[in-house]
Amino acid sequence: MAIQPEVRAPQSDRDESGAVPVDEQTLLVLGASGDLTARLLLPGIAGLLAAGGAPGLSLVGSGTDDWDDEHWRERVRTSFSAADQAEDVQRVARETRYLRADVTRPDDLRRLLDACRGRVVVYFALPPAVTAKASGALAEIGVPDGTRLVLEKPFGTDAAAAARLNELLARLVPEDRVHRVDHFLGKSTVLNILGLRFANRIFEPLLSNEHVACVDVVFDESLGLESRAGYYDGAGALADMIQSHLLQVLGLLAMEAPPTITALELRDRKAQVLRATRLWDDDVATSSRRARYTAGEVDGKRLPAYADEAGVDPARGTETLAEVVLAVDTWRWAGVPFRLRSGKALAATRKEAVITFARPQHLPEGLLGYRRPDRLRIGFGPDRLNLDLNINGPDDPFVIDPVTLGADFGPGDLPPYGQVLRAVLDDDPMLSVRGDTAEECWRIVEPVRDAWRGGGVPLLEYPAGSTGPADSLLDGSPARPGEVNPVFAESP
Ligand code: BG6
Repeated sequence: MAIQPEVRAPQSDRDESGAVPVDEQTLLVLGASGDLTARLLLPGIAGLLAAGGAPGLSLVGSGTDDWDDEHWRERVRTSFSAADQAEDVQRVARETRYLRADVTRPDDLRRLLDACRGRVVVYFALPPAVTAKASGALAEIGVPDGTRLVLEKPFGTDAAAAARLNELLARLVPEDRVHRVDHFLGKSTVLNILGLRFANRIFEPLLSNEHVACVDVVFDESLGLESRAGYYDGAGALADMIQSHLLQVLGLLAMEAPPTITALELRDRKAQVLRATRLWDDDVATSSRRARYTAGEVDGKRLPAYADEAGVDPARGTETLAEVVLAVDTWRWAGVPFRLRSGKALAATRKEAVITFARPQHLPEGLLGYRRPDRLRIGFGPDRLNLDLNINGPDDPFVIDPVTLGADFGPGDLPPYGQVLRAVLDDDPMLSVRGDTAEECWRIVEPVRDAWRGGGVPLLEYPAGSTGPADSLLDGSPARPGEVNPVFAESP
């Protein structure tokens, strides 16, 4: 394959010294007519523009749909409508252009790049297979200096595919200019894990196998499939949520303290801890569970069974709920189960990371009524921090009462996609998933996925609007350090 990575920006975009002006950039969205662009990307751009975070930004949309500029602008205006209508927001909506293109063809891509002004940010809002083809086509024509590539999750479909995609991208731009998006890394409460852990001395000394019994990262949604069968039926909860978002949260919760909050240090620490992460006991049968919803009612709304949703192939056996228990084999975390769970169409949303502390080493005789361990709960919506503590009760002072100390975060100043995009436009890869980490996250879930595909773990069912199938891996009482968690002890 002919590779000419040194394609230069058009002459008109250069200043006197020949450099591309940094204050002008174009976000070129491949897959502009898709659902992801409308639902998440465009509102993120609008939030960023409204906050004054992207002056000089132009937007070019491209897709296979036969749209004209006006149709696209209407789509953009609709997605921008919730944002403050600042001048930049209106300008971008007014001036944006749409070009129909087949992004797997080099000639079409060249035409798209020629339509961009200033430095180019290519956003692949495409399924993994098309992203891989489009990257191959780009590698044939090269990209202008300074181009950044932004890739949606899932990044590849397994570790081998992610490695191949990484190799392809490395031929186009340096790693620091590849932004693998995980919008959870733009959530203010997820980022606040850094402040919570490293900007005070209260919790960090306790965060180890000496004091922590288990860590749960839970993302239960009441939303069902939401007409996303085209994507979701090929992904399932394991790839959609655990391989990406929840492992990133685990990385931030479990990593060692970075000396500085920079892309290099943060991503190194995260990569280190994820390299040490594997399935608990390497046992898929006892450390993973999968299920899919049947018909039911959520929030007063009737949902059909997942298997009956339009576009779903029931024979694929795609799971809408996944649970895995992971071990982090480091000095700090050895023996502490990390339990990750995400499900759709559940009775209630529950989106939080919970650090459950071990029982006190010795509960003095005479202090009565100990019922549950202390917990630090980091909510990802509502964005709230809770510390569940055992203290002496207000009534009988010798009976323990649980209290909760809480703080509300409120939404961040930018929506998560806006936060992530700001970093991309600032050329800062800190919030992007590094190539080696993307592969590592596939490596962690692959034994589970393979066993599920091979039928090694039954596909359970739960009615939409329920709390999920009984006997969740999260239901067992957490192990105390050095003890076997009953959940695992009972397993065959
Ligand atoms: C997306 C998943 O990445 O994250 C969805 O594809 C999920 O299935 C969503 O619903 C949850 O993120 P949030 O925080 O935007 O609700």
